This record gives sequence, structure tokens and C-alpha cells, in this order.
Amino acid sequence: MSLVSVITAAPRRLGVRVVGALLSALLLTGTALAQDDFGDTPYVQTPQNVVDRMLQVAHVGPGDYVIDLGSGDGRMVITAAKKYGARGFGVDLDRRLVELSNRLAARAGVADRAVFYERNLYDTDLTAASVVTIYLLPEVNLMVRPKLLATLKPGTRVVSHDYNMGDWPPDQQMVLDAPDKPVGRDKTSKVFFWVVPGNAAGKWRWRLPVAGKPADFELVVSQNFQTVTGSVMVDGVAWTLENARLSGVNISFILNDPRRAARYEFTGRIGDHGIAGTVRVTGATVQRQLEWDATRTEPGAPAHAALKKPDPLELQRMQQMQ
Ligand SMILES: C[S@@+](CC[C@H](N)C(=O)[O-])C[C@H]1O[C@@H](n2cnc3c(N)ncnc32)[C@H](O)[C@@H]1O
Repeated sequence: MSLVSVITAAPRRLGVRVVGALLSALLLTGTALAQDDFGDTPYVQTPQNVVDRMLQVAHVGPGDYVIDLGSGDGRMVITAAKKYGARGFGVDLDRRLVELSNRLAARAGVADRAVFYERNLYDTDLTAASVVTIYLLPEVNLMVRPKLLATLKPGTRVVSHDYNMGDWPPDQQMVLDAPDKPVGRDKTSKVFFWVVPGNAAGKWRWRLPVAGKPADFELVVSQNFQTVTGSVMVDGVAWTLENARLSGVNISFILNDPRRAARYEFTGRIGDHGIAGTVRVTGATVQRQLEWDATRTEPGAPAHAALKKPDPLELQRMQQMQ
């Protein structure tokens, strides 16, 4: 029995609504989903070995601020503080769990760095986070996704136990043994990891020498989540763009000069209006590294920014993938 089947199979005992049935009905009718359509995620603990793996995948360390949305008995933030030296807080709707978490944090000697609040995750300010952890129902992940993408700083790491984020592809995912898992027959857990992408969309311009003469580069970038695609013109000639990658504010891609078989490998950091980085030029007769400064001449918005509410069809796809 998964977390999803816990909520659908035993609604009375858990005191929650039959979200699965409601969702199926909504999916069949194609009705738009609203926050009120979602029940609360029931309390199920993440096994300690999965907690550790989630924090390790996110490379949690002393400089991090970890926020656990729906913090249960506080194990995620308490472990982050005690074992990995981080700070942070957890929020939960259940007052008893919040009180228990604060007691457990004091017992672990980390009450000054791991604090728990009785608060709805939708009303929680996430701006302090460098890492966000979740173990929520799939549809709640989709509800919270716009807030994560809109309010977390680019580069913030997000880790989810068992459920993905629909069309937002994970940067990493894994399955691990979870012998102590209180739900599920196969005693395994999935872990999904994302880095919140910066905004690379729009038009970019810069000048660089090509075959010894300054040339004008114009790059047009489209973005959905961390997936970036684009086209580039160099002095009016189309070059090919390969291996475009975006991780937080770090962008990299390769341009190929069709006429001279030279290859330009760009890596840089996106700032408010520009990119600063380097380019490595390699070809039959050249091999050198140059400074690279690009200016955004036309702002753009990633496609995902337009999605404010879950699309029922996306939820259906997500459930089929579980
Ligand atoms: C599956 S448990 C996960 C507990 C803990 N994060 C862990 O991994 O062990 C989900 C928790 O989310 C809490 N929760 C559900 N809906 C919430 C909401 N809207 N705001 C805050 N907490 C919520 C529940 O009370 C429950 O403790």
C-alpha cells in the first residue's frame, strides 16, 4: 500500500477525504482542479535510511537551510541539523506532530537549528530555503509545484520521497530498499531530485572573435522547466546548438561553426540581465579559452511559468508513471 492507497483505502481511520475517487471523477469530467479539491496528505513517516539518502542526494551541509513541507515528527529537519550541520524548519497542520517535533529537536540538542511550526504548507514562506524536502501526495506535489518554481531561488534543491512532479523532469531519481517503510508491500522507496532552474528564456547577444574577426552572436532560448532549446545566428549565419543544459543559474551549451569546423563550448552564470562565463574554442588550428559576456536583449519567460494550477491530464500522466 503506497501513500496514495493509504488515503484512498482508509479514509475514515485517517480522517481524510477520498481524494483518489474525487480526482478520478475530476479527470473523467476534465474539470479544472483547485486547491480545495485536495485532501491533506496523511501522516506516514519516511524511513530513516530514506531520510539520509534524500539529504545526501541534495548534498545538505552546514551552509544549508532545509524546509520540510508536511514535517510529521520532524525527522527530516532534525537529521539535517544533527547529522549534516544544517538549519531549517518544518511545517505541519497537525499540532501534536509539531509539538512532538520540537520536543525531539530539543532532545537531539538541535532546537536552536531545527524548529517546527503549525502552519499550512501553502501559506509558508519558502524564500529562506536552499533545500526543500517533501513527502506528499502526487496531486499535492502538482499543487505546490508552481509555488516552488516561482518563489524558490534558482539553484535551490528539491527532494521528494516516492512521488514525482509531473512534467517537471527530475535531475536525478533512484529506488532504494526501505525495510522499515510503514506502507507498501515491496519495501522500496523512490527518491526524486530537482534543482530549481533560473530563467534563461529570451534573446541574448554577445561579440566574440571568429577566425580572428569580431562576430555578433544572437541566441534565442526557449525554456520549459530546466530544458532549454534554441537557435543561434553568428553574423547572420545559422550555427548549430548542442548539449544545452541549465542547472539553477548555470548554463552551458556548444556551438559549431559550420564553415570552419570549430567548436565553441560556453559555460556561464545567468545574472539579472546578462551571462558571465567562459568559452573554450577548439578546432584544427585553434585551441583557447576566452571570457564570455552575454546581454539579454529581449526578456523571455519559461513555459512552465504560465502553469498556475495542475492540468488534470498532467496529473493523469503522473499517476500512470507512478
Ligand atoms: C507523508 S507525511 C510526511 C512526514 C515527514 N515529512 C516524513 O517524511 O516523515 C505528510 C505530512 O504532511 C502533513 N500535511 C498534510 N497536508 C499539509 C498541509 N497542507 N500543510 C502542512 N502540512 C501538511 C501531514 O500532517 C503529515 O504529517
